[in-house]
Amino acid sequence: MRCLAAIGSLMLAAALIAMPARGLPQDEPSRSPGMAGSRTYKLYCAVCHGEKGKGDGPLAEGLRSAPPDLTLMAKGNGGEYPAEEIARIIDGRKPLEGHGGADMPIWGDVFKKSGSGSDDEAVKEKIQSVVAFLEQLQEK
Ligand code: HEC
Repeated sequence: MRCLAAIGSLMLAAALIAMPARGLPQDEPSRSPGMAGSRTYKLYCAVCHGEKGKGDGPLAEGLRSAPPDLTLMAKGNGGEYPAEEIARIIDGRKPLEGHGGADMPIWGDVFKKSGSGSDDEAVKEKIQSVVAFLEQLQEK
């Protein structure tokens, strides 16, 4: 009897320890722009630009122009991450001169057609989250 009670309280203790871990709001980080951007990036961008943005995704070799290393964009801009310009490049619907070749999809349109970003505001948000994610990849 005493033994069963001991096991019972052990199990209760184990449950109490396990509970807060399970009860943590696990999707909290995904609500921050960086995390949402990370998911979007892995889903849409990593095939060409590579998991870490180095331009070595599995599709990269089949392209006419190699996907650029996305971790050097701050370095290439005097150490300052050009967020505005990058957002416009990714959106692609307002191309900048000298940017955006035929191999880089026009993500503004792709996101607009995909279920999750059906209006301009949602598209903008999605692009901003990827821009925020890419900022974390920048080499110093
Ligand atoms: C089909 C392959 C492919 C996919 C998928 C792709 N890209 Fe690209 N990306 C390219 C290529 C190729 C270029 C270079 C275009 C050029 O120079 O004409 C490029 C250029 C860029 C640039 C400009 C970099 C610079 O230094 O000028 C950014 C930023 C970028 N891509 C971000 C993204 C993001 C974000 C995604 C996902 C939403 C993505 N790309 C998905 C192929 C791809």
